[in-house]
Amino acid sequence: MRFLVFFLSKECVVLLLVAQSFSLVPPRCLRCEGTSCDCSRQNLTRVPAAASPLVSDLDLSFNRLEEILKHDFLTYGSLKALLMNNNEIRSVQDEALVPLIRLERLDLSHNRLETLSSAWFQKLSSLLYLNLLGNKYTTVGDGNVFQGLRRLRILQVGGASLQSVKRGHFSGLSDVDQLFFDGRNLQEYEEGGLKETGPIGLVTLDLNGVFARNPAIVRSILSDVVYPNTTLTFTDTSFLRKTLVSPFGFAANLGATSIVFRNVNMSVAACKEILNLLSRSNLTSLTLDGVQMLQTHETASLDQLQMHSLEAIVLKNIEVTSFYNFPSLVFLKSLMTLARRVSLLNSNWFAIPCEVSIDFTELQFLDISDNIFSDLTLSELMCYGGGVLLGLRTLNVSRNHLRSVSSRLFAELPKLQNIDMSGNRLKDMPECCRWPDSLRFLNLSSCHLTAVTRCLPPSLRVLDLSNNHLTEFDTELPFLTHLDVSGNKIGNLPAGGLYPRLTVLSVQNNNLQKLSSKDLQAYKALRRLKAGENPYFCSCEFVAFMTGGRMNHRKLLGGELDFYVCSSPDAERGRRVSDVRLPAFRCHTASALAALCSGILGVCLLAAAAWRRFSVGWYIRMTCAWLRAKRKPRLKKGPPQYDAFVSYSDMDSAWVETHLVPELEQSHPPVRLCLHKRDFLPGGWILDNIMDAIEKSHRTLFVLSRHFVRSEWCVYELDYTHFRLFDQNDDTVVLILLEPIDKRTIPKKFCRLRRAMNSRTYLEWPADGGQLAAFWKRLRAAIQRHD
Ligand SMILES: *[C@@H]1O[C@H](CO)[C@@H](O)[C@H](O)[C@H]1NC(C)=O
Ligand SMILES: *[C@@H]1O[C@H](CO)[C@@H](O)[C@H](O)[C@H]1NC(C)=O
Ligand SMILES: *[C@@H]1O[C@H](CO)[C@@H](O)[C@H](O)[C@H]1NC(C)=O
Ligand SMILES: *[C@@H]1O[C@H](CO)[C@@H](O)[C@H](O)[C@H]1NC(C)=O
Ligand SMILES: *[C@@H]1O[C@H](CO)[C@@H](O)[C@H](O)[C@H]1NC(C)=O
Ligand SMILES: *[C@@H]1O[C@H](CO)[C@@H](O)[C@H](O)[C@H]1NC(C)=O
Repeated sequence: MRFLVFFLSKECVVLLLVAQSFSLVPPRCLRCEGTSCDCSRQNLTRVPAAASPLVSDLDLSFNRLEEILKHDFLTYGSLKALLMNNNEIRSVQDEALVPLIRLERLDLSHNRLETLSSAWFQKLSSLLYLNLLGNKYTTVGDGNVFQGLRRLRILQVGGASLQSVKRGHFSGLSDVDQLFFDGRNLQEYEEGGLKETGPIGLVTLDLNGVFARNPAIVRSILSDVVYPNTTLTFTDTSFLRKTLVSPFGFAANLGATSIVFRNVNMSVAACKEILNLLSRSNLTSLTLDGVQMLQTHETASLDQLQMHSLEAIVLKNIEVTSFYNFPSLVFLKSLMTLARRVSLLNSNWFAIPCEVSIDFTELQFLDISDNIFSDLTLSELMCYGGGVLLGLRTLNVSRNHLRSVSSRLFAELPKLQNIDMSGNRLKDMPECCRWPDSLRFLNLSSCHLTAVTRCLPPSLRVLDLSNNHLTEFDTELPFLTHLDVSGNKIGNLPAGGLYPRLTVLSVQNNNLQKLSSKDLQAYKALRRLKAGENPYFCSCEFVAFMTGGRMNHRKLLGGELDFYVCSSPDAERGRRVSDVRLPAFRCHTASALAALCSGILGVCLLAAAAWRRFSVGWYIRMTCAWLRAKRKPRLKKGPPQYDAFVSYSDMDSAWVETHLVPELEQSHPPVRLCLHKRDFLPGGWILDNIMDAIEKSHRTLFVLSRHFVRSEWCVYELDYTHFRLFDQNDDTVVLILLEPIDKRTIPKKFCRLRRAMNSRTYLEWPADGGQLAAFWKRLRAAIQRHD
């Protein structure tokens, strides 16, 4: 490098260094998913190049951007959300944001902007949300900064540096619905400065220093932003002296209906003073959220409060410092007796004495979640079931230190509908309970219950028993519409017949191994079933049930098939049920086996039929015999045993026995005939006998008649001799026609007979007796041996 520098001119070195520090190629951010890019915490010093022209969300927060240049967003035409908070941005070039015509959210908070330029936002006509908090500007600008933002709904502006607000600074914002204004160090406020936005639903003010330094400014601001129905929030402020809170009387008179103190330090005296000032106002709700309550040397008394519109009080995250020299929050009692809804949340509240609660006559809703009430102090609050809080409809004691269900405390409350006891350590329930008949909703979620009893009120519509240790659930609840038993160890779906009105059932994350349509049919009214995250056994039935095309039970599962995972059999463990494809053979074993067997049977039957139909056996044997005969020609063959084998149909046996046999066998010399009736070996296979007889005979005599062609054995005989004829070409066949047969009437399958009748002469049995002698003579000649 030194070598290089030596030879380069000074200008070149400077250029090189400049190029290095402002690397000319913009960095890339590769953390994009779809059109959303999360490029936060990358130590970026420049806006990265667009990964695609379609990027709609770009998060550049917590980087080291210092300057936004005019070309930086040229390729980001589709951007809808741009987060650049917590950088070190000192300047934004005037044209830099101009390409972002679709931008809806812009966060420039916690940077080092010293001025706001009217050029930045002029083209951002789609912008809905703009955050400019925590910068270094001392004034919002020259009056034109927000002119282009016609659609802006949420504006967060100001910071520790903001010094002055003048009339006109906020002009152009006609649609703003939520304003967060940080003017903690505001020195100068021109009346009407925030008025131009018109009524705003939610106004949050951080005016911490101003309350102490210049209450007149607070008053001016309040008179500009408070309208009837405005919810006014004071945040990050200390109210430690009662003189500081005087502007509240002013706010009350302006008609603010909802006031919130969030993250504030407050002395008891200041708190009482605020309540006094708000008395006789139209306030409907008062919230103290995140309040550090202090006892100071100042004292104050609380007047008789009159807030006839007061609906709700929320005291949340209240911390009482140095509680040992601090009487209690009992001074808030008069406030609570006015409201219909009281929430005392997460404030280590452990008791409300009976003398106090007895005055809560208006109370309809009491929420004391996240405190440390015990059975004893809850009893105290309810005056031991002695008929206080008679108007109560909802009681929320979730996440306290209760150990028992204590139903009798509520039995006398005629309007009580909802009880939320979730998150207590109840462990078990008594066998028997007394509840008000009006009870509809009971939440016993996360109560370490191991079993439920008949204690459960039968009037319930909604019951939440999720995240306990139940192993079964079978309490009859005839009116129940919603049941949540998820997160237990239940092994069987509760019997549907016990819940005829149930529409929503949650049993996810239990021990269910199966689910079948039969189980579900018992639920007559069910519309929604959540049963995922169970250790399902993915049997064929289960998989078929889950993935089957039944529309109505798909609707029941509500497209949550992904939560149904197999835990057995091993081969399918961890697979989503919808991805499981079980082999058909496993799922339909019986029918597969049946199909296989019937297939085999079918083939056998076919073979047998073919065997029979085409007399395969016969032809095989015949072929064998013929081959055998061919292989050993005549050697072994002595003189034939018979002169003639007579082939005839049984129907013609009368003629054979009365005419043929006597005439030929009793003549001289006798002709030895072979007749199947007489000479076949008994017990032998008939086809064997036939072949044997033909082999052993000099001639084969066919007695032809209509009966003959119908007899199947005769056809075999004809076949075999035909073979022999064909083979040996000798003259062994003698045909006797007993009656005239028209050759054309012989069926086609007897083609051999036809051919035989064509090719050789045959003897016709004479119709008149005169020609008998000639017939027998010719026959004998035909049979006669010539050797
Ligand atoms: C950013 O820089 C800091 C300090 O220089 C370092 O600790 C951190 O790991 C860097 N982060 C990234 C994503 O490079
Ligand atoms: C205030 O709210 C109530 C109910 O939300 C509405 O009826 C009334 O018109 C509102 N008043 C004004 C001035 O906006
Ligand atoms: C409230 O007092 C605590 C000290 O007790 C302090 O740390 C905190 O900053 C104060 N909050 C406000 C909003 O002034
Ligand atoms: C309270 O409401 C009533 C009627 O709604 C109205 O006449 C009265 O002026 C309101 N009070 C204040 C202080 O706004
Ligand atoms: C009871 O309070 C808890 C915690 O704030 C909340 O989640 C739950 O919804 C409340 N129950 C009812 C019935 O309001
Ligand atoms: C019951 O209470 C639990 C815990 O507070 C909550 O998550 C759940 O939503 C409640 N159930 C119903 C039905 O509101």
